[in-house]
Amino acid sequence: MPEFTVNWTDRHVAGWEKHLGFIGRRQEAHGLEIGCLEGRSSLWFCEHLLHQPKSTLTCIDPYDYSSELTIAQNTPRTMKVEFDVQEACQRFHSNTGNLQESGKIKFFQREVPDALRQILWKEQFDFAYVDGCHLASAVLSDAIHVWPYLQPHGIIIFDDACWGVQKAPFPREVWPSVAIEALKTCFVGRCRELGRTGMQVFVEKLV
Ligand SMILES: C[S@@+](CC[C@H](N)C(=O)[O-])C[C@H]1O[C@@H](n2cnc3c(N)ncnc32)[C@H](O)[C@@H]1O
Repeated sequence: MPEFTVNWTDRHVAGWEKHLGFIGRRQEAHGLEIGCLEGRSSLWFCEHLLHQPKSTLTCIDPYDYSSELTIAQNTPRTMKVEFDVQEACQRFHSNTGNLQESGKIKFFQREVPDALRQILWKEQFDFAYVDGCHLASAVLSDAIHVWPYLQPHGIIIFDDACWGVQKAPFPREVWPSVAIEALKTCFVGRCRELGRTGMQVFVEKLV
């Protein structure tokens, strides 16, 4: 049985079913997850959207919080006090080891640009879950790097898009919403906001 110490997945399931459910009915689909922690969301994607034999999930996570903590160090809620990233990494491997062995999950413990370079344009993703470093600059960088790997009508899901809209536990430079608005401005006419749940935004790449 998989083991987890945090659950940042269940609260998003209704939104994923609503906006991504059609991907689960495809004969073959490919997903990308940036920031996989203990693999809880990774397992959900594999079970509900990528269950067909040829479907795969690519996971990227350097398991290094240094940049995010530098910004967040003056706030009372840092991720550092919530869990140890190296333990999270070990738990990811024990929770997803069988899926990595079967080729369902491909894992890169690297920074996003390095990992994507290694994929070398072989993959076109149906969706990408951007849930790594929440610095606005990192979220924007992740989205820009992922963009060419998304197939037309592929969907980017941004987590914690509500920061700064509903609540702001971190300074403005740690609001994903700043990056999402910048992306929509840069790609105006080439993307559209599909929908929003309490915490997440779904953006579709049009062309
Ligand atoms: C909020 S957690 C992910 C939660 C996970 N998606 C889930 O729902 O269970 C954030 C993750 O982002 C990773 N992360 C931090 N900086 C990153 C970066 N620069 N690139 C990719 N991932 C990063 C962390 O190691 C951590 O595992």
